[in-house]
Amino acid sequence: MASGTLDNLPKDLRNEIEHLERLFTVDGAKLKEVTNHFVHELEKGLSVQGGSIPMNPTWVMSFPDGNETGTYLALDMGGTNLRVCQVTLTETKSEFDIIQSKYRMPEELKTGDAEELWEYIADCLMQFIETHHGDPTKLDALPLGFTFSYPATQNYIDEGILQRWTKGFDIAGVEGHNVVPMFEAALQRRGVPIKLTALINDTTGTLIASAYTDPKMRIGCIFGTGCNAAYMENCGSIPKLAHMNLPPDMPMAINCEWGAFDNEHKVLPRTPYDVIIDKDSPRPGQQSFEKMVAGLYLGEIFRLVLVDLHDNQEIKIFPGQDIAKLRKAYSLDSSFLSLIEEDPFENLSETFELFQTKLGLTPTGPELELIRRTAELIGTRAARLSACGVAAISKKKGYKECHVGADGSVFNKYPNFKARGAQALREILDWPEKADPKEDDPIEILAAEDGSGVGAALIAALTMQRIKQGNMHGILHPENFRTTEPLPA
Ligand code: BGC
Repeated sequence: MASGTLDNLPKDLRNEIEHLERLFTVDGAKLKEVTNHFVHELEKGLSVQGGSIPMNPTWVMSFPDGNETGTYLALDMGGTNLRVCQVTLTETKSEFDIIQSKYRMPEELKTGDAEELWEYIADCLMQFIETHHGDPTKLDALPLGFTFSYPATQNYIDEGILQRWTKGFDIAGVEGHNVVPMFEAALQRRGVPIKLTALINDTTGTLIASAYTDPKMRIGCIFGTGCNAAYMENCGSIPKLAHMNLPPDMPMAINCEWGAFDNEHKVLPRTPYDVIIDKDSPRPGQQSFEKMVAGLYLGEIFRLVLVDLHDNQEIKIFPGQDIAKLRKAYSLDSSFLSLIEEDPFENLSETFELFQTKLGLTPTGPELELIRRTAELIGTRAARLSACGVAAISKKKGYKECHVGADGSVFNKYPNFKARGAQALREILDWPEKADPKEDDPIEILAAEDGSGVGAALIAALTMQRIKQGNMHGILHPENFRTTEPLPA
């Protein structure tokens, strides 16, 4: 079994670990370089000429003040699950009630047929309505916020032209099209009494939901299957919207779609494993940053390293063993890495069992040390690079102190992700060491409120409010809003 310290490892394994450390470690100077380039790319995305990062205006044009009320439906189509919620923003300031149902997104739908996807979603919604509202034929259309967490061009809040699928989705006939009519057609075919009021990105929902309970919130992030952020810009700083003559100080939430950062491969320290991930993905050349930091890819990077150390490198790990299970692409998800990093035992006995049960492999003690270090390196790199995005938005906006609302499986479940991210922010932004460990950091990444449920409801409420006040910018179907009163709270 494992020796407990890397010093006792055989020399060839130690060399291998040192090699991986060189590949995956991102030092403070590199983080600063990445962040500075990131700031530049955020600005480029807002320009008329555009850049890799889409910087999509969302037509969410204010923060909530906590006094929003009403009951709304919300649908969340994320990377892994489909969730339907009914959210009530109560009369009590900043409070809400929620009922929800989760449906697993069948794997085959992600690469299947568009029609099947929309039918499946319509069925889930119908089920929810029947359970909570009774006979759908007797209902007036209910207002719904649709959290569609993929890059989408929004000329209007109730429109979303899919720029490209991400997170392993690959469904023909949707990219380049407005998904709202497709979604509505399926609802109509099934007789689901729902009217879409807003199409929302999960990051924008996270930003707005978190701001509902915390006025210091400035950025909403998702560190999950995919990775992305949203923040509030002022229209005067969005040259690509200049033709609309919006008041320069009018706020506009921007869905950055920062997963596409550095698609040109100018600054990110990519390893040969990152190159393979990209090449073998359904969209090579896209989502360069996301492919290094997001949950969908962490387990796969790890798997590629191990396969390489068995096949190609001087040292052959797992000699004489059948690694057939390990060869299966995307067979290890980020929770596998979490388990390895969480193994509390000096001899890594839980990792040993994990490898035996899940992969049919029997690692030696030194191999277990290598496995643990590899997981740490990949998890640490993800957290540190993710911090560059947060630092870049903060720098661009001149935020010296603020809160960042974060959600997603990696943020919530991956061991040490938060602490590693906070440490990286400290290095990038040159914060002095804390006098007292309990002191808050100037910019803190905190667990967010439920963006795709509460956030979607708030965005529907805020949009209705602004229409009442006469701000009709970015609304394609005002009639939906005029006739749609929120359900009574
Ligand atoms: C999508 C974003 C989304 C992020 C987190 C990315 O793949 O492009 O729209 O916000 O994943 O879910």
